[in-house]
Amino acid sequence: MTQYTRDTFDQVMIQNYVPAQFLPVRGKGCRVWDQEGNEYIDFTSGIAVNSLGHCPDEIVEVLKQQSEKLWHSSNWFTSEPTLALATKLVEKTFADRVMFVNSGAEANEAALKLARRYAVDHFGYQKSKIIAFKQSFHGRTLFTVSVGGQAKYSDGFGPKPADIVHVPFNDLAAVKAVIDENTCAVIVEPIQGESGILPASESFLQGLREICDQYQALLIFDEVQTGVGRTGHFYAYMKYGVVPDILTSAKALGNGFPIGAMLTTNEIAKSFAPGVHGTTFGGNPLACAVAEKVVDLISDTQFLQKIQRTSEQFMQKLHQLNHQTGLFKDIRGEGLLIGAELVEQYHGKASEFVKKAAENGLMILVAGPNVLRFAPALNISDEELALGLEKLADTLLSV
Ligand SMILES: Cc1ncc(COP(=O)(O)O)c(C=O)c1O
Repeated sequence: MTQYTRDTFDQVMIQNYVPAQFLPVRGKGCRVWDQEGNEYIDFTSGIAVNSLGHCPDEIVEVLKQQSEKLWHSSNWFTSEPTLALATKLVEKTFADRVMFVNSGAEANEAALKLARRYAVDHFGYQKSKIIAFKQSFHGRTLFTVSVGGQAKYSDGFGPKPADIVHVPFNDLAAVKAVIDENTCAVIVEPIQGESGILPASESFLQGLREICDQYQALLIFDEVQTGVGRTGHFYAYMKYGVVPDILTSAKALGNGFPIGAMLTTNEIAKSFAPGVHGTTFGGNPLACAVAEKVVDLISDTQFLQKIQRTSEQFMQKLHQLNHQTGLFKDIRGEGLLIGAELVEQYHGKASEFVKKAAENGLMILVAGPNVLRFAPALNISDEELALGLEKLADTLLSV
């Protein structure tokens, strides 16, 4: 046992988080062990990140191999893993070009800056309006919290970037009411994640595509949470059949090794000419080598099909538990991004369920104050799934 405990967090860390009382020290697959050796089934994947589970052998091997070759070289040089990953993303998506960054917020920051710069290049400075959705979440930089639709994240930091309009999600009429020739971009999560696992309707996304084309505005899909297999499709736009102009990805792309990406077309990419935007670490060989292997494993058709079956099992069990407990008002989601909204009586209490689950050896998440969020590894084994669902039943039946 080390000298560091949960109390150390309160002594030396900035208190912008309130982590769980136990400290994970080791993980394998969907199992995690804490300092005392207690075992947990992980239905969180580090918030939709460790999609291949903890320390997957194939990824550990790639990380080890690359760690002995080249970690970092800066943007004055490119690297083989960087180019290999970019080539794969281009082959497997609508995109012609990729830029790598280090997180979801940075990917969105890049996307928003690109959309504004593209508008300046082609139409002039007046075309700067960004339309975003209430309750959306796009990261924690000042630009991305300002575009995100939640005042609790954006207020209290002084003046915000201007010309950003928020309208209700899934409401095409509301978009039509504010879009005009000065709109440079519409940014949307295909499934709103942080605010409660709320899927966009197909007609809404199709409508956004049409209206963006009509006003020469770029359509940005924030797939930071929905991307890289989470919904049972490599990217969620593939399920909806609506192709964005810019797509952002992060979280699962590195299975826990920090990396983000912004994908776009040849035409739009031209607006990021040399020097216009940059990052020291983005696209470093270590992160890209890991992510290339992740992309290989997750984009496999059979792998993606299995996610659908696991999702059905998970949903079925949640519905069954709801019959027994009456705890949920709604159960929704796609693939293994699943939300269960608590009935009114338990509103505001989602995090109490998370604590209770941890006492039963189960890690789960919230998505806002009223929704339990489940995002297990995409390759969770039948045994891990059954065990986790048993622990979930114990948790819900003891309320
Ligand atoms: C949809 C979405 N966009 C952006 C982000 C921000 O990503 P990061 O925390 O890697 O900056 C998140 C994180 O939860 C997210 O869910």
